[in-house]
Amino acid sequence: MLKAIEKILITKNEIDKKVKLLGERISNDYAGREIVLLIILKGSIAFAADLMREITADVRLDFMQISSYGSSTVSGELKILKDAQSELGGKDVIIVEDIIDSGKTLKLLTNLLSERGAKTRICALLSKPARREVDIDVQYLGFEIEDEFVVGYGLDYDERFRNLPYIGVLKKEVYGD
Ligand code: IMP
Ligand code: MG
Repeated sequence: MLKAIEKILITKNEIDKKVKLLGERISNDYAGREIVLLIILKGSIAFAADLMREITADVRLDFMQISSYGSSTVSGELKILKDAQSELGGKDVIIVEDIIDSGKTLKLLTNLLSERGAKTRICALLSKPARREVDIDVQYLGFEIEDEFVVGYGLDYDERFRNLPYIGVLKKEVYGD
């Protein structure tokens, strides 16, 4: 284990099992239908890459990048850095997100997508309910976790640790508060 990691919170094996279950649920709910997986860069790439291969519906991919955190662990302004390429109006869209913290990022995004006429659902790997500031309906959720800063399996601290195969708690001394 890396020196910067306090403990492994969710192992690769636990992630794999959960992703399979989520994929099965989505496959059942959207059987024979067309869906767009709207993958939120960059934190969701590992999750999305595994999840899409567990879905048997007719899947297309699109990507958005939204900045909310910068290099700090405190929630900040929301900004669309990269917009989706396809027309999402009238489409069944599943937003694939790494983690829901305050919920502000997804609130803004779901509002924007419904203005565009998309029918959206949310699939998030992780959620920190203790940190929620706005109400969010999450149809597909992997794990609820405590209020700890986690990295790995796509999640970063200052762009590091995305490549870890597990979800780990970052040592406080690394982000210094
Ligand atoms: P929200 O708008 O507060 O829900 O912010 C969600 C975003 O914050 C996620 O997409 C992550 O980029 C980031 N984030 C929140 N908590 C963590 C964490 O524990 N580790 C890594 N990134 C996090
Ligand atoms: Mg991030």
